[in-house]
Amino acid sequence: MEGKSLLRFFFLIFGVTLLLLFTLLNFPYAPSDTAELLDCTTYSPWCTSKNRIQSKNPQLINNPPNPTRRRHSTAVPHHPLDPLTIQEINKVRTILQSHALFNSTTSHALHSLVLQEPDKQVVLTWQKGDPLPPRKASVVARVNGASHELTVNINTREVTVHHTRSSSGYPMMTMEDMNSVIWAPLATSEFNRTIIERGIDLSDLACLPISSGWFGKTKEQRRLIKVQCYTMKDTVNFYMRPIEGLTVLVDMDTKQVVEISDQGKNIPIPEAANTDYRFSAQNTHQYRILLNPISIEQPKGPSFTVEDEHLIKWANWEFHLKADPRAGVVISRATVQDPETGKLRNVMYKGFTSELFVPYMDPTDAWYFKTYMDAGEYGFGLQAMPLDPLNDCPRNAYYMDGVFVAADGTPYVRSNMICVFERYAGDIGWRHSESPITGIEIREVRPKVTLVVRMAASVANYDYIVDWEFQTDGLIKVKVGLSGILMVKGTPYVNMNQVNQQEDLYGTLLSENVIGVIHDHYVTFYLDMDVDGSDNSFVKVNLQTQQTSPGESPRRSYLKAVRNVAKTEKDAQIKLKLYDPSEFHVINPSKKTRVGNPVGYKVVPGGTAASLLDLDDPPQKRGAFTNNQIWVTPYNQSEQWAGGLFVYQSHGDDTLAVWSERDRAIENEDIVLWYTLGFHHIPCQEDFPIMPTVSSSFDLKPVNFFESNPILRSPPNAEKDLPICKAAASA
Ligand SMILES: *[C@@H]1O[C@H](CO)[C@@H](O)[C@H](O)[C@H]1NC(C)=O
Ligand SMILES: *[C@@H]1O[C@H](CO)[C@@H](O)[C@H](O)[C@H]1NC(C)=O
Ligand SMILES: *[C@@H]1O[C@H](CO)[C@@H](O)[C@H](O)[C@H]1NC(C)=O
Repeated sequence: MEGKSLLRFFFLIFGVTLLLLFTLLNFPYAPSDTAELLDCTTYSPWCTSKNRIQSKNPQLINNPPNPTRRRHSTAVPHHPLDPLTIQEINKVRTILQSHALFNSTTSHALHSLVLQEPDKQVVLTWQKGDPLPPRKASVVARVNGASHELTVNINTREVTVHHTRSSSGYPMMTMEDMNSVIWAPLATSEFNRTIIERGIDLSDLACLPISSGWFGKTKEQRRLIKVQCYTMKDTVNFYMRPIEGLTVLVDMDTKQVVEISDQGKNIPIPEAANTDYRFSAQNTHQYRILLNPISIEQPKGPSFTVEDEHLIKWANWEFHLKADPRAGVVISRATVQDPETGKLRNVMYKGFTSELFVPYMDPTDAWYFKTYMDAGEYGFGLQAMPLDPLNDCPRNAYYMDGVFVAADGTPYVRSNMICVFERYAGDIGWRHSESPITGIEIREVRPKVTLVVRMAASVANYDYIVDWEFQTDGLIKVKVGLSGILMVKGTPYVNMNQVNQQEDLYGTLLSENVIGVIHDHYVTFYLDMDVDGSDNSFVKVNLQTQQTSPGESPRRSYLKAVRNVAKTEKDAQIKLKLYDPSEFHVINPSKKTRVGNPVGYKVVPGGTAASLLDLDDPPQKRGAFTNNQIWVTPYNQSEQWAGGLFVYQSHGDDTLAVWSERDRAIENEDIVLWYTLGFHHIPCQEDFPIMPTVSSSFDLKPVNFFESNPILRSPPNAEKDLPICKAAASA
C-alpha cells in the first residue's frame, strides 16, 4: 500500500516535471528563454552568466530560492504571537479527543482552532530570548448542535470550556460544511427532475454554498444554507451560466433539503460563448496586447529579512506577520525606527481584516438573501488560495504559508498564501529642483520603494486582493483590490431595446441573458493603534470656515482647525463628509515632540462608499458595523470581529455598533480604531467575463510623530549601483 502510493507520488512528480519542461520549451516568454535574451553589462556579481545558467533551472524558477519551502512538521514557535504549529495542533487534537465533550460518539466538528494570543501586556514585555508564555489554543467547536468556545493550554493539557454564548449566530462554516452541502440537492428527485427539465445534464452541475443571511425569524434553531447551481457545459466560467431562480434550502448539519424554490423555468441559461477568460482560450485571437516581459531588478537581492519565519524587518520597519483562517493576514507589533534615536517605536499592536459585508441589491426570491459576510461566514483566510509567482507577486517575493485545521482537527498547509515583496513603481519619495532664477543648482530626488504584504482571497466567484504597504516615511497604506467574476443573474433579455423603461433590472445587462446585479462591498479593518505606547486618544481635527470681521482683512473667510478630543465611544462614531472635513488623529497625549505637539498617526480615508440600506433592514442590522466609516472602542480582547464572533445567521446583537453604544471612555486609554472601506458596484460590460481589478485604499500616516521628515537620509539611486540588462540584438 505504502509502496504503491509512493510510486504514484513519483509518477506525479515526474508528470509535473515533464509538463514544466514542455511549457518551458514551448512558451516563448518563459523565464528560461528570457534569461537567454538578456545581456547583462556586468557591474556587480549579480549579473553574471552563472546567474543566467541558474535561472534556466526549472526547479529554481518555480521554487524561488527563498525560505518558501519549510518543513512545517518540525516547525517550532519562536514568538508569543506565532501561529500554532502542526505539532501543537496535533497535541491540541489529542487533548480534545480525551475530553468529555468529544470522547463519546456524538457528532462534533472544529470550526476554528487558532492560537489564543497571550495577554497584550505579556506580549509587549516579552523579548527575544525570553521563554515563550504558555501556548494556548482557542477552539470553537460544534457538539451535538451546540457551539462551544474552549481554551486548551497545550503545556498543561488543561481544557477550559466557555459555554455557549447568549448571542445569536453560528460559527464560521468549515470547508467540510461548504463541500458537503453543495451535493445535498442531488438527494432529492424533485431537484434532479427540474435540472433535467431545464435541459441540463446532471454531470454538468456546479453548485455554490450561499450563506442564507438572517431575515427576522427569531425561532430558526438550525444552521441553514442556500444552494444555487450553474452549468459547466462548454466553459470553465460556470458563473456566467446560472440556472436562474432555482434555490435549494439545506440544513447544514443534517444535509437534508428543507425547501426547493423553483421559479426561473422560463429564463434561458446564458450561452457559454466568450466566457472563458484563460490565456489558453484567448491567445489565439488576432488582436492581443503585447508587452515585453517586465520585472524589477534587485542586484543585491531584496532589502528585507524574515527572522524565525514571522518577523519581517525592512528598512526602518519591523513587524510580525501571520496567516489566520478568518482574517487572512494579521500584522502585529508594527514598529518603526526613530531616525534621531535609532529606537524602535510602537505604531500598531495589531491590524487585520475584521469583517466583510457584501449586500446585493435585488429583493427578489433568488437574490434577496445574498448579504455575505466573507470573513465570519466563509473564512477570509480559508479562501485565500496559493499566490502565483511572477504574476501575483514579483520575483524576490517571500512566500508565507498558512497552517489551518480541518473539521476533524487535522492540520493542513495552505502554501504560498501570503507574499512579501519590495515595490518600486517608478514613484518619487520626495524631491525638489531649484529654478535658475535663484542661482542655486539643485535637483534632489529620492525614489519611492515600499514593502508590500499581500494576500488574495477567492471567495467563490470574487477575488479580494489585500495589500498592507509600508513606506519608509512611516506611512502604512491598506489597499483592497476587487477582481474575479461577478455573481450574475439570468434574464430572458438579450438587448436593452426589449426592456420596458419602468422595469427594474437590479443591475446592468452585460451580455445576452446576463445581468450584473448591483452590490456593495464593505471591508472593515481592526486597527489597534499603539502610538508610542498603549494609552492613546482619538482627536477629530475639524476644519471650520471662519468669517473675518468687517475691515479686518481683505479676505472674507478662511479655514481654522478645531481639535476635539473624543471622550467616549459615541464621540468617535464618524460619518465622512466632504463639506464638513476633518482629520482623524490617534495621539499619545503624554508624549510630545520637541516643540510640544502630541505624537500621532492619522487615518486618511481614500475613495470609499457608505451603506445606504435602511438601518432596520435585517442585513444592515447584521452589518451595522458599516453604519459609520470610523469607530473607536476601548481595547477588549474579546471584541475583534466587527460582526460578532458568531456571524452566521446572526441577528446583529454582537456587532461593533452594539459595543460602541455602551459609550465607554476612550480618552487616554488603550484604544482600537476601526475603519471601513466601501465600494458601490454598478456592473458594466467590461466586468464580463472577468473583472479588471478595482482598488481603493486608506492610509495610516504619521502626524507630528517624527521631529521632521524621516527620510532625509535615504540615498538616491546611482547609475553604478544598477546593472543594465538589455535585450540582445537577436531578440
Ligand atoms: C470520556 O471522558 C470522561 C471524562 O474525562 C470519562 O469519565 C469517560 O470515561 C470518557 N468516556 C470514554 C468513552 O472514553
Ligand atoms: C440525482 O442525480 C444524481 C446524479 O446523477 C444521482 O447520483 C442521484 O442518485 C439522483 N437522485 C435521486 C433521488 O434520484
Ligand atoms: C469585553 O467584551 C465583551 C464582549 O463584547 C463584553 O461582554 C465585556 O463586557 C467587555 N468588557 C469591557 C470591560 O468592556
